[in-house]
Amino acid sequence: MTILSVNVNKIATLRNSRGSNVPNLLKVTEDIQDFGAEGITIHPRPDERHIKYSDARMLKNIVKSEFNIEGNPIPKFMDLVLEIKPDQVTLVPDKIESLTSNQGWDTIENHDFLKSTIKKIKNKGIRTSIFVNPEINMIKGAHLVGADRIELYTEPYAAKYEKNRDLAIKPYIEASEKAYDLGIGVNAGHDLSLENIEFFSKKISNLLEVSIGHALICESLYLGLENVIPMYLGKIKK
Ligand code: PXP
Repeated sequence: MTILSVNVNKIATLRNSRGSNVPNLLKVTEDIQDFGAEGITIHPRPDERHIKYSDARMLKNIVKSEFNIEGNPIPKFMDLVLEIKPDQVTLVPDKIESLTSNQGWDTIENHDFLKSTIKKIKNKGIRTSIFVNPEINMIKGAHLVGADRIELYTEPYAAKYEKNRDLAIKPYIEASEKAYDLGIGVNAGHDLSLENIEFFSKKISNLLEVSIGHALICESLYLGLENVIPMYLGKIKK
């Protein structure tokens, strides 16, 4: 069964735009869980323009569902996750200047770094996931570095969905089948929305988790968080 993890970075970004505590990130996170989200994701970036490191520490006491912290494992990030010990850490190769994550890891080129990073995280009993493009070699590389899961980067799927969804999903089916054969769990995220999630979820039978932020918050402007979260759940539960 796939679980829905809501990325609350956008709530923090809205709050940061005014320098006050509105909207209240902790209250919104509690409400998101009450509305049915089964996980909360945060992505602290080095410049803290979205979620701040202090938010992450406070959220630890608020998140009762699965807590996923994603980001580039720079020393500051590693200190944070090893201290907080969330349920899952997702490693993302995002650059400081990038607006948002825009590619997966090259798991072959970064083999040694990923392997030692994953070991440190797993030693604390935390599940690890690595963000990858849907390419067979990258999935094999993820297996070799000891990741428990991969998170498939779904922006290319979302971009091609409207034009030809069967073509768009093809590499994701192949990648998820490879992960299954290798015994790695499959998560997915980036640009998933109410429009494109159902097809993705139907086609990827071993999908364990989706993490969704931008579209879910945008859709909630019209429909309300309390309605949008059950709508997502209705589309991912088979
Ligand atoms: N997964 C990763 C690794 C991300 O960096 C992001 C965006 O922060 C997401 C999932 C969620 O993407 P979106 O905000 O487009 O739903």
